Amino acid sequence: MQNSSKYIVANWKQHGCQQMLADWLTQVSQAVTQKPSLQHLRLALCAPMPYIAMQHTGVPSVLRGAQYVSPYQGGAYTGEVSARMLQDLAVDIVLVGHSERRQWFNETTSQRRAQLHALWCVGITPVLCIGENAEQHLQGLTEQVLTQQLSEVLDDQPQLGPLILAYEPIFAIGSGHPLLPVEAQQVHNFLRNILARWYTDPLPIPLLYGGSVNPDNVSHYALQPDIDGVLVGGASLNPTTFLQLAQAFIQAPIVRIKTDSGVA
Ligand code: PGA
Repeated sequence: MQNSSKYIVANWKQHGCQQMLADWLTQVSQAVTQKPSLQHLRLALCAPMPYIAMQHTGVPSVLRGAQYVSPYQGGAYTGEVSARMLQDLAVDIVLVGHSERRQWFNETTSQRRAQLHALWCVGITPVLCIGENAEQHLQGLTEQVLTQQLSEVLDDQPQLGPLILAYEPIFAIGSGHPLLPVEAQQVHNFLRNILARWYTDPLPIPLLYGGSVNPDNVSHYALQPDIDGVLVGGASLNPTTFLQLAQAFIQAPIVRIKTDSGVA
């Protein structure tokens, strides 16, 4: 997957039902079909596991996502879903290490490492979520914490594959208190540079911001040069709102050109 596009990734968490999914997909795929500018974006829905097989739009730029993959490749692990099963369902991207998984399900570093490896083995792109908590943020430890979170899962991986990185400060998730766009930009710029430790060319790695993104604030994130998209929970459930987020990423380059040339 190349970084020529911007990513708008919906994370439905434990919300939704079949009807809601069908309505969302219909509205989003119709919008993409009717509006060619939307086809330059990558829109993705990370639906709850039972609905993944129903995520058929026939629109190539609408990606199929999952919120979880088992660290185990297969076997006697009741309740688990393997990377191979997700591949079988044509899943394109999978969230790894979301802070809610770490907080409520005690997902460990070794599990995250194994999840990345399992996904890369079957050619699925992980959306690796990293982020500091409020205390670490206030203590100025953001860069240190993020470096650690990347090192512990990327160091000594048998083989690295395509990656999407989502920076989500934990205190900004679902709180209505997003990180200021300029602060997020600084962190993204830091991440862009530090990824060179593991990837000879970090440029194709999309860097998404997540945490209380909504239609009112999204354009400020879209304008930042190192923010390649957003990972969105609450505001992604409604297809109209989701499409408003996408629209902001279409308009951003136009606003940027106007601003740079002194037009706006
Ligand atoms: P939020 O969630 O947009 O509701 O803050 C973001 C996320 O958890 O990925």
